[in-house]
Amino acid sequence: MVSYKELGLVNSKEIFAKAFAGKYAIPAFNFNNMEQMQAIIQACVESSSPVILQVSSGARKYANQTLLRYMAQGAVEYAKELGKNIPIVLHLDHGDSFELCKSCIDMGFSSVMIDGSHLPYEENVALTRKVVEYAHAHDVTVEGELGVLAGVEDEVSAEHHTYTEPDQVEDFVKKTGVDSLAISIGTSHGANKFKPEQCTRNAQGVLVPPPLRFDILKEIEKRIPGFPIVLHGASSVPQDLVAIINSNGGALKDAIGIPEEQLREAATSAVCKINIDSDGRLAMTAAVREVFATKPAEFDPRKYLGPARESLKALYIHKVTNVLGSAGKA
Ligand code: G3H
Ligand code: 13P
Ligand code: ZN
Repeated sequence: MVSYKELGLVNSKEIFAKAFAGKYAIPAFNFNNMEQMQAIIQACVESSSPVILQVSSGARKYANQTLLRYMAQGAVEYAKELGKNIPIVLHLDHGDSFELCKSCIDMGFSSVMIDGSHLPYEENVALTRKVVEYAHAHDVTVEGELGVLAGVEDEVSAEHHTYTEPDQVEDFVKKTGVDSLAISIGTSHGANKFKPEQCTRNAQGVLVPPPLRFDILKEIEKRIPGFPIVLHGASSVPQDLVAIINSNGGALKDAIGIPEEQLREAATSAVCKINIDSDGRLAMTAAVREVFATKPAEFDPRKYLGPARESLKALYIHKVTNVLGSAGKA
């Protein structure tokens, strides 16, 4: 059993309060390996941004739970070595059981998500409440979810959105005691968030997806004033990265994300945490494919993972500076 406090991590309470008051959002970047972790920390130290290092259950299986805990501890020390003691949260993304959340808390996570969004309402409340009781006894913060995002949520996939019902949020927050709430207003996971037929074309011929449901967000804000909201599935799927991938042997079809202006707008509202994973995957894949295509004789992993790390870092600096507004807030 190790407390996140011993590892130099923080929970999300104070950084969310500051993000809410300052009208910006904290980045939650997923990681599975060393290069991703280095890119996140380098970018956030250079931009002076607080950051949430986010680990899915799949990432935990992939990387090993013990290694991840030491990597997060290493991230804290690495940030200091790079010159800035930025607030770093280690967060479980889409926890699906009490046991998984407890295990993460016992292994040094400072924040967990319990995603009961696919359960009947009362079951979601009961499971979330159980996690909150254990987490709060250890000063760990908890994110709950109401509403279902279309696309793949970890092992569960949904064909259509079920938007969050504003009438439920106050009751859910009161009964569960969660510290933040993930909502469904039109985002979804992965690189194929919309079908082309759902989009319109602008004057330049670029596909423009349907806008996020800011009306639902506003209703939610009215019901739980001052409460931190989380947006999952918030990658923008940069078309330049998709083009690099596809022109170097890739086959990404109909890859469409959330326009950055909409995320910028969301960040100034009650949205205090914005989750980005797919854009990082695209940045890494584009860089690796480019090296493989242009330098076919290269076989030193550092020669392709190094450029991938640089590309990731540039993406994250762009996100915190131009989209989320968290740069300079550490
Ligand atoms: O929401 C899901 C995240 O993008 C993590 O994805 O379960 O493939 O690690 P993963
Ligand atoms: P993206 O797939 O849009 O990056 O969303 C990531 C996410 O929500 C992780 O929980
Ligand atoms: Zn998610």
